[in-house]
Amino acid sequence: MWPDLIAKSKEGGADVIQTYVFWNGHEPVRQQYNFEGRYDIVKFVKLVGSSGLYLHLRIGPYVCAEWNFGGFPVWLRDIPGIEFRTDNAPFKDEMQRFVKKIVDLMQKEMLFSWQGGPIIMLQIENEYGNVESSFGQRGKDYVKWAARMALELDAGVPWVMCQQADAPDIIINACNGFYCDGFWPNSANKPKLWTEDWNGWFASWGGRTPKRPVEDIAFAVARFFQRGGSFHNYYMYFGGTNFGRSSGGPFYITSYDYDAPIDEYGLLSQPKWGHLKELHAAIKLCEPALVAVDSPQYIKLGPMQEAHVYRVKESLYSTQSGNGSSCSAFLANIDEHKTASVTFLGQVYKLPPWSVSILPDCRTTVFNTAKVGAQTSIKTVEFDLPLFRNISVSQPLMVQNKISYVPRTWMTLKEPISVWSKNNFTIQGVLEHLNVTKDHSDYLWRITRINVSAEDISFWEENQVSPTLSIDSMRDILRIFVNGQLIGSVIGHWVKVVQPIQLLQGYNDLVLLSQTVGLQNYGAFLEKDGAGFKGQVKLTGFKNGEIDLSEYSWTYQVGLRGEFQKIYTIDESEKAEWTDLTPGASPSTFTWYKVILFFVGLDSMAISSWDGNSVVSVNFSWTFFDAPNGENPVALDLGSMGKGQAWVNGHHIGRYWTRVAPKDGCGKCDYRGHYHTSKCATNCGNPTQIWYHIPRSWLQASNNLLVLFEETGGNPFEISVKSRSTQTICAEVSESHYPSLQNWSHSDFIDQNSKNKMTPEMHLHCDDGHTISSIEFASYGTPRGSCQMFSQGQCHAPNSLALVSKACQGKGSCVIRILNSAFGGDPCRGFVKTLAVEAKCAPSSTTSSSQL
Ligand code: GAL
Repeated sequence: MWPDLIAKSKEGGADVIQTYVFWNGHEPVRQQYNFEGRYDIVKFVKLVGSSGLYLHLRIGPYVCAEWNFGGFPVWLRDIPGIEFRTDNAPFKDEMQRFVKKIVDLMQKEMLFSWQGGPIIMLQIENEYGNVESSFGQRGKDYVKWAARMALELDAGVPWVMCQQADAPDIIINACNGFYCDGFWPNSANKPKLWTEDWNGWFASWGGRTPKRPVEDIAFAVARFFQRGGSFHNYYMYFGGTNFGRSSGGPFYITSYDYDAPIDEYGLLSQPKWGHLKELHAAIKLCEPALVAVDSPQYIKLGPMQEAHVYRVKESLYSTQSGNGSSCSAFLANIDEHKTASVTFLGQVYKLPPWSVSILPDCRTTVFNTAKVGAQTSIKTVEFDLPLFRNISVSQPLMVQNKISYVPRTWMTLKEPISVWSKNNFTIQGVLEHLNVTKDHSDYLWRITRINVSAEDISFWEENQVSPTLSIDSMRDILRIFVNGQLIGSVIGHWVKVVQPIQLLQGYNDLVLLSQTVGLQNYGAFLEKDGAGFKGQVKLTGFKNGEIDLSEYSWTYQVGLRGEFQKIYTIDESEKAEWTDLTPGASPSTFTWYKVILFFVGLDSMAISSWDGNSVVSVNFSWTFFDAPNGENPVALDLGSMGKGQAWVNGHHIGRYWTRVAPKDGCGKCDYRGHYHTSKCATNCGNPTQIWYHIPRSWLQASNNLLVLFEETGGNPFEISVKSRSTQTICAEVSESHYPSLQNWSHSDFIDQNSKNKMTPEMHLHCDDGHTISSIEFASYGTPRGSCQMFSQGQCHAPNSLALVSKACQGKGSCVIRILNSAFGGDPCRGFVKTLAVEAKCAPSSTTSSSQL
């Protein structure tokens, strides 16, 4: 996916790609490095360079990033005497070794800018300033050490520390946040950098899906450059997927979509991507003035309105740049509620609430952060229906217009709820989870035996009570089995467990399965954090009081049998003893499922409807594939499952969990005013994640193997694999909108004539490999409503639909000029006209059939 993602970033106006370096990915075992495949960072940096972009490498090597253990390899905990991120020799040695490894690698590969490569900046540590005070003087010393150590590596490019107000002189301190215009570096000699503009946010299992409105992001970015910013980076511009067990925690979902301008699947998120592209173009029109002036001139325009002007003295300007404006200005209205009229250099400007207008020539507004002209895209998942081998495809079932199948070839296998290998061990006491698993698995089985006397039983019966398992504190998930039965689950982050249990007379098997769902990735003292249980583990309510289970012998078994036998790989799955799964089988816990996928593409379809008298026939024509048709990204719908992990052809596509977000808290979204992560959230009352990305490069021409491990029970027959694409696009542009920025160049501001000829434009485009198959709605006049709910207003140019169809249908993208003459004259004098369009996109090859 990298070349396409980099190309889309460049097209969106990026100059620099920023990436973290994931220590635990590159050094999974101490001193055994991995720079292959997804961890081939040299290849990535080279791709960025060859596309003409620069690179900012954030080595850390603590990175946070909602990534397992913040990027630290879990073996780091086991280095004797280690304390993370402080003045501690064992830690500093390991950190230095890894940072040096990366810097040397980049230098050897000639990737620094002074060597002709793309790397212009590096980062050491990550937001250490947020936790520094927890370490006292040793924290301060560590910052100085980290800075000196980094510098001594002689990388030859500047180093950044983000959120580090006490960064030494030789390091640039940078800002992270939703807004950074009010941030100032700790020395006038340092540029104002914004390393993380949180243009979205991450989600947790069972949480709402955060969204940040693009008008507010654009506002924040424009404010930053308005107030002297030099370098700004989106976090994330593309977040992708935390495959495998790489998601951090606790409880971060597998998707790291982040509401980014490029979505998890590599498709553009519109209007986010498009509006920011326009913003970038507008800022770049100001570049001659921005780079020539150290700090802008501030002009108060009103109580909550202000201008910042970058004006180059004529003489300076003429010697420094050949063309472009010598004056650029940003006009801001930070009033959250009201539009403001302001007078700037003798002209009146209308500024919508919470917005910035950008004037590259100090006269012409070429962009306002609150006016979105970019198209909206609505993505759907569809077709390429998966089937499962050997099914009778002649009998598709039509259920409410949805086509579903009864697949017959799911296979199943039970995971033992007990020890399953020789690698178990028995010891007295309750061990810390990570000390045992070393994070080679989420799962740790803890098994013991409880002897119950006849007196205990009568005591419980007489008093009508039952014994209780009590654990002072546990994280992230605990499953409790008594005599082979799952009797309870506890989910939480260091919460108390109080679980009544039923015991029989004689010996009872007690199995406690402690699980992690992503290791802690933020905060001080991560090495001490651990997982599993803390404090006392006991059984209460016995005749003679309580039983302290830490005095008991426990047998420990790390991981799942299927996981360690790798039954999710193509070769090993053959060796496991699968049995057929019958449709309608009741949901089963701790169970493996496997299936060979194949897919059906709809060649043609004639669905008929009720004509008032009878149902007219239904004709399908199918084509079968071993891999999904076309080029669309592929997604697996696991909404029918409970919790577990999934693999495709041996590739771990991640944890899944159908955990539902709260019903409330997804109110109306208003872009105005300060953003916070619960503002504008979506997906209330729905599972946080049901779609899981299967990268196309993990699919093969035939025999695609899907394996799932399911903990809590689900229905695999309802799993489907679909392709994802943008099917509906909409846009709304008025004749008062600024002309398309793609048509401006610096000299336009000097040549007023050409400027006057420019008109606003509507740009529509479908995803790559798709064309506009139909125009569903078009009205030039005073249309009402919003995407998928447009309607004609009182004023409407009758030829709107015909003209837009002619310009766009059958094309991958099209441009429509917003002016009366393009629509056969003014449909209503005295009104501001708007063009609203809704169109459908379809894969280029099947455009005609999709119109059936
Ligand atoms: C920052 C951190 C990033 C990421 C972000 C939230 O504090 O530097 O790595 O975790 O928060 O997405």
